[in-house]
Amino acid sequence: MPEIAQILYVSEEICEQVRRIGRAITEDFAGRSPVLISVLKGSALFLADLVREIRLPLRLDFMSISSYGPGPERAGRVRIVKDLDQDIGGQDVILVEDIIDTGLTASYLLSALRSRSPSSLDVCTLLDKSVRRIAPLPIRYRGFDCPDKFVVGYGLDYAERYRNLPFILAIEDYAALAEDPEILAGFVEADTPSE
Ligand code: IMP
Ligand code: MG
Repeated sequence: MPEIAQILYVSEEICEQVRRIGRAITEDFAGRSPVLISVLKGSALFLADLVREIRLPLRLDFMSISSYGPGPERAGRVRIVKDLDQDIGGQDVILVEDIIDTGLTASYLLSALRSRSPSSLDVCTLLDKSVRRIAPLPIRYRGFDCPDKFVVGYGLDYAERYRNLPFILAIEDYAALAEDPEILAGFVEADTPSE
């Protein structure tokens, strides 16, 4: 059977990057207490692991957004479905993303957050699909520079599946996945990566 997906980052590599970013944030924000904002649902897993590597008195908040328009090229038309619970005025804010692809979503979120006058605003993303960037944006913390492939696992989904994979898969045959979204179930059920 031709390969539909292969492991791009194993959990040890992910863990190593999460630790490295956690240490960097701890150093950069020493003496301060940043507010980490995660965009549901994809970045919730990254956030949960990341905050346990940050030795600072921080706070969390969550936003949920929906993208308009058909297909993967949604032109960055974003609506806030669930807003923050806290006022971020005068706070050090870090936007935590699972993946930044075209950058349109993050750009929209950054301008929405900037309008609330935080004292600082930084972007942290586990995956940076930099070759796809349409809207340039400053990324202060990045785990991996990700190849231009659709990826799932460690929070990232296809049709709400595969968020619970402890590793990240690159999809090699997107058409096969689109035809049968459950086609990668073997990766979910396996005890350890099969590759
Ligand atoms: P952007 O606006 O193009 O940067 O899109 C970012 C959003 O698209 C992410 O927050 C993800 O929800 C989704 N996305 C982009 N690339 C992938 C991928 O490879 N796998 C899963 N979701 C993705
Ligand atoms: Mg997302």
